Amino acid sequence: MLTPQYVKASIDGRIGRIRLNRPERYNALNRAMIREIVEAMERFDQDETVAVIVLNGEGKSFSAGADIEEMVDATPVSMELLDPFADWDRISRLHKPLIAAVHGFVLGGGFELALACDLIYATPETQFAFPEVGLGVMPGAGGTQRLTKRIGRTRALEWLWTGDRMPASEAQQLGIINRIVEADQLEAHVLTVAERIAAQPVMSVRLIKDAVDKAGNLSLQDGMDHERRNFYLLFGTNDQTEGMQAFVEKRQPTFKGN
Ligand code: CAA
Repeated sequence: MLTPQYVKASIDGRIGRIRLNRPERYNALNRAMIREIVEAMERFDQDETVAVIVLNGEGKSFSAGADIEEMVDATPVSMELLDPFADWDRISRLHKPLIAAVHGFVLGGGFELALACDLIYATPETQFAFPEVGLGVMPGAGGTQRLTKRIGRTRALEWLWTGDRMPASEAQQLGIINRIVEADQLEAHVLTVAERIAAQPVMSVRLIKDAVDKAGNLSLQDGMDHERRNFYLLFGTNDQTEGMQAFVEKRQPTFKGN
């Protein structure tokens, strides 16, 4: 693998950190940058020392979206042959919790990247938008699907058709983001949440994400059947034995992550 050019990736305790690092372009996402982000995520997803992955942007903003200059001369054929969004699909296949800490502009592909994460924390000044309509295109990396699943068709269409900027307060009201945190506390807050999740039994965290993901795609009964299989599976883990034994013995559990 080549040295990443557009992201900084590091491990901090049990947290895999990925920082978008193209601040002079508002972290506009070119194809190489997306590939670097996805490769760092996949590396952390398979690294047993990492429990949670945290994503944030360097500079004034999280990301102003896909790199427009890279797409300006594209044709349907070049798009079809390159399939620039194929790498994005790999994010949905990750098993570990992904947390986005966002600030400034979260636009277009930047918004799609945040929506592909499991939890989103934002500063009060953060502005979200899908400005693609004003470029004569539309979101292409999941925006129409993920936004609609989050807030429903009627509201999604209004944001997508107008391209208006959605303030963090409204994004929170709509259930798009988890919480608003002051800029100087955002990183510490997100790391605290990440560490809390990292301290939980690994297999529970993993199978909860797996079951919650099914809620969007399966019927209620199929989703519940899937949930139940995950529940039964957890009785094969040492952490289930320890968690329940500790409760019965009235002591704190010590989880081993298996
Ligand atoms: N692609 C490429 N370059 C970008 C960019 C983008 N998405 N966003 C910003 N930049 C570049 C600018 O061209 C500029 O470069 P130069 O210094 O070389 O001129 C630099 O970043 C700074 O930007 P501005 O001078 O425009 O800064 P500003 O403070 O006046 O405005 C902004 C900031 C509101 C983010 C504005 O740059 C902007 O509107 N950017 C485009 C946002 C956008 O339309 N995003 C959607 C992209 S399409 C997409 O994402 C499709 C998809 O579904 C994946």
